[in-house]
Amino acid sequence: MRKHIFNAGPCKLSDRTLENTSKAILEFNNSGQSIFEVSHRGKDFQAVMDNTVELMKEVLNIPENYSVLFLGGGASLQFCMIPYNFMKKKAFYLDTGTWSTKAIAEAKLWGETVVVSSKDKGFTYIPKDFKVPSDVDYVHITTNNTIRGTEIFEDWSFDAPLIADMSSDILSRPVDFSKYVMVYGGAQKNMGPAGATFVIINNDYLSKVVDRPIPAMLKYSTHIDGGSMYNTPPVINIFAIRETLLWVKEMGGMVAMNKLADERAKMMYDTIDASKMFKSPVVKEDRSRMNIVFVFEDKYKELEAEFIAFAGSKNCVGLKGHRSVGGFRASTYNACTMDDVKALVSVMKEFEEKHA
Ligand SMILES: Cc1ncc(COP(=O)(O)O)c(C=O)c1O
Repeated sequence: MRKHIFNAGPCKLSDRTLENTSKAILEFNNSGQSIFEVSHRGKDFQAVMDNTVELMKEVLNIPENYSVLFLGGGASLQFCMIPYNFMKKKAFYLDTGTWSTKAIAEAKLWGETVVVSSKDKGFTYIPKDFKVPSDVDYVHITTNNTIRGTEIFEDWSFDAPLIADMSSDILSRPVDFSKYVMVYGGAQKNMGPAGATFVIINNDYLSKVVDRPIPAMLKYSTHIDGGSMYNTPPVINIFAIRETLLWVKEMGGMVAMNKLADERAKMMYDTIDASKMFKSPVVKEDRSRMNIVFVFEDKYKELEAEFIAFAGSKNCVGLKGHRSVGGFRASTYNACTMDDVKALVSVMKEFEEKHA
């Protein structure tokens, strides 16, 4: 029996993704070979790559003058590639949690970072009324903070070029990509399994690459010129991403994903807000729809392990908060169904009835 999976990434994927990827591992395109065994430069895999890029553009409504890349190295390598390629002197970073803090550390290797942070209140909100200096090379934001459970729901505009880490909210809502010069992330949440990184980059922005020696593997132009195949790409991940994109399309695309995300999050936050035992540490307007972070009221804190075990006994898994913050986190990505959410809500209510 499949469990109710609330892992933060790697996370639950659609049945279509799992079934068709498994089939391709056993035999790819009636070729008598596994997808693991064919050349990535053969026509069959090239067709998968081309189709995946096309589907990204179609499903996400990405403008023509943007390139879509699938790379290795995770979103974490992008933390380094972005300043390496685009930071001449100074960049603005919004610090909204662990991942943006890591991105800032990489940028500091290349120049001055101007940082606005929500660290003062434990990253429980998104800073909004801040000014970006006029002389920064770019602005970097993290649109969904996977660990702290905050989210930016709108596509912001600045005078400087905007770059966003959308690792954990890509494919959850329609995005106006024209507002960003680059959007990137690890694929291991709404897009597919761990092992591929997506980069959506405005081709015109490449003219802003800093004049410094950059190793080939760390240059965006290398990967654009090589069609994400300068080196051997993460083949099986790209196949699984294509299946996920086809599933998203079948389900009704971004409009449907957006609506389902609202429904899941509403049910979770309504339950938390009505509870005497659980509470959300995040300010209401910034609460993530992808990662629902919640904690016990202080007097129930010693019951944390018991709650996790109780949820597990009811087949709800992946609820432990990130090791750096504790508490609980239910990640409700696209493949998470209302049945999964209802199962968790009834576990929370039953536990509360017993203990509160
Ligand atoms: C928002 C965000 N950015 C970056 C990362 C790091 O991604 P990776 O492990 O692919 O380097 C994560 C990982 O969960 C994340 O949630």
